[in-house]
Amino acid sequence: MTSRGALTIMACESGRQFANRVIDSLNELVKNNFYRSKFALKDTNETWFANGEVKTVINENIRGDDFYIIQCIDDPFSSRSINDNFMALMSAIDAAYQSDADRITVVIPQFPYSRQERKKTREGITAKLVAKFIEMCGADRVITLDIHAEAIQGFFTNVKMENLHASRTMIDHMIATYDMSNMMVVCPDVGGAERARFFSKELQTDLAIVDKARNYKKASSIETMRLVGDVDGRDVLVVDDMIATGGTLVNACKLLKDKGAQKIYCLASLPFLNGSAVEKLNVAVSEGVITKVVGTDAVFRGENFTKDYPWYDEISIAPLFARVIYNINMKLSVSELLR
Ligand code: R5P
Repeated sequence: MTSRGALTIMACESGRQFANRVIDSLNELVKNNFYRSKFALKDTNETWFANGEVKTVINENIRGDDFYIIQCIDDPFSSRSINDNFMALMSAIDAAYQSDADRITVVIPQFPYSRQERKKTREGITAKLVAKFIEMCGADRVITLDIHAEAIQGFFTNVKMENLHASRTMIDHMIATYDMSNMMVVCPDVGGAERARFFSKELQTDLAIVDKARNYKKASSIETMRLVGDVDGRDVLVVDDMIATGGTLVNACKLLKDKGAQKIYCLASLPFLNGSAVEKLNVAVSEGVITKVVGTDAVFRGENFTKDYPWYDEISIAPLFARVIYNINMKLSVSELLR
């Protein structure tokens, strides 16, 4: 097997916790290979100036490397905005380009602005701008997770995109942890029907759909919700790509409860939990509406969060990212890993 060259990795500050888990998983993958030195994050500095500008410096040689930059743009531990963290990513890509890496892969489990991928009125298609910026900075490839709209792949001209899915990791976690005998799958929004269908096929369970209508004149506001399917007497797995304000999820779960659902488990690849989402979920759990929320560490929260909020399970998606990075570097297939 030949590689594309030295596999080296750096993290922007908000991606560091997730990147450390990816490094651990990579080291696990190569632990029996005596010739391969251990992976470690490259020494870098991300400096923020008093006026809000950011600068990234790579303190080690990466000339000719197959180079990976990990950034988690919406970071619960940081006071920096999504826009700040995106700018930090762009400065890192350019630093890698100027340092003469052979290939630059941007690892962003959360693709920013992915909900602005088409226009309804006089508005921009900002997801396309994000793609253009990444491409313009010199990236060759993007790896992301459960991107909200897969059509975003087409916004890139020369950059290749790999869209990973958390579904298999989540299904394994659910089967290993909870009683699945009375479970059925629900998607809280018709946009997520394909994902929910995958879960119901893999778990061989029934499927129901919540038809949600949004009020697009007001951010994060839902007009109506109605259930298509029967959840009476069943445990329910609600699967979505993200939890932002939690409005979609909590309203859908209340509707399911009214329709006779028993235990309700909520799964989201990207648990952003913006604004008052944690409080909303806390109330929903204490009222017996929601039993568990399961999210991945693509939005890293860590052990303290799960101690404070026992209704939350954090599962790690880092091993999947590590395997995909390793296979790309070794010119091995990744298609099996993308299903
Ligand atoms: C909608 O299309 C998405 O899949 C999510 O359901 C939605 O973005 C979650 O947003 P919120 O938590 O603010 O309702």
